[in-house]
Amino acid sequence: MPPVPSRAALVALSASLAAAGLAPSLRADDDRDDDRDEDRAARTVRPSRDLRVDIAVSPGATAGGTATVDVIVRNVGRRTERDVQVVVCAGDLSSEPLFTSATSVPPKQTRTVRAKVAVPAGATALAAGAWLPGDGMPGSNYVRVSLSGSRLAYPAAGGATWAAQCASCHGAQGEGSSKGPRVRGEDADEIAEVVRKGEDGMPRFVGIDAAGARDLAAWLADPSVPPVTPPGPDPGDIAPTWDGGVRDLFAAHCASCHGGARPSARVGLDTKSRARKDAQSALSAIEAGSMPPAGPLPAETVAVFEAWVAGGRK
Ligand code: HEC
Ligand code: HEC
Repeated sequence: MPPVPSRAALVALSASLAAAGLAPSLRADDDRDDDRDEDRAARTVRPSRDLRVDIAVSPGATAGGTATVDVIVRNVGRRTERDVQVVVCAGDLSSEPLFTSATSVPPKQTRTVRAKVAVPAGATALAAGAWLPGDGMPGSNYVRVSLSGSRLAYPAAGGATWAAQCASCHGAQGEGSSKGPRVRGEDADEIAEVVRKGEDGMPRFVGIDAAGARDLAAWLADPSVPPVTPPGPDPGDIAPTWDGGVRDLFAAHCASCHGGARPSARVGLDTKSRARKDAQSALSAIEAGSMPPAGPLPAETVAVFEAWVAGGRK
């Protein structure tokens, strides 16, 4: 069965979010020694970073014609061979797929999947996504290019990153709040600079790269583009143990703010020992719907956290 498009879109976007949601990095001036080992461990939890995807479109591709598209997938994970799902869509990954396929990619290797697609009339861009089916946190990536081959920003993904990482301080649409200034219309270079360096009251986000900053800028230029809020890992795939996937749930929904050397509210949820320690208050906040700030988690996801705590936080 080919994957359904909405799932592809959500999964791809969830990966962009997760990539953007790495714990704010250490600042040299306020490292805390006792956190160093845990931070090292936290940095290895990057399931979404296992894949890189790129797309090359044959010259001369036009709307209404056919195009040869190479989707280039690299497994940057260290150990395991990955079964990767690949999808190509017109415009955006939320549209009906033009092509789907699966390929197996050994660690540190690259595979190219070639697709001949019929480009719909009116299309101006092609998008490719790749992800790992059944992974607690689907590792994946996405890229969007114009028919002439130049890269485009991905505003819907920028909106998703914004909602999860930035809105709690800068307002839902960048209008500003008591915790952060108005940033509507901020350009990509400025965003890249600020997230890399951090400023007073503003954490660093090492997971947001230049492409992520372009996505954010594209969305801030037009926040009417609906952000796609990714579902995070599918709770149905998750056993209520840390390694069974609870780690991935915390990584997807909490660790971007509750990780690293200065976790929000001093609640660390990025390593097993920290999460075990703060499990009860974490669960209360989840059940009350006060965390994550982007909005209450679905009931099935809450149930996994409840089962983990009830089962002894294993
Ligand atoms: C914990 C609150 C907080 C979060 C979360 C946060 N910011 Fe900020 N941000 C601030 C504060 C406070 C400032 C002002 C810092 C200063 O004036 O030195 C700021 C400044 C900025 C600026 C510079 C604005 C200017 O005009 O100087 C940009 C751009 C920005 N943030 C983007 C982002 C993005 C993008 C995200 C999400 C990835 C984000 N911020 C997340 C609090 C936050
Ligand atoms: C976008 C950043 C962000 C994310 C994501 C986030 N938090 Fe928080 N959290 C905060 C901030 C900031 C505070 C402190 C201020 C406040 O209470 O609003 C906080 C406070 C808390 C507190 C202590 C106060 C309380 O409400 O009990 C707990 C516990 C907590 N968060 C748990 C979680 C859990 C569990 C998740 C994931 C399901 C999560 N947070 C996701 C930013 C975040």
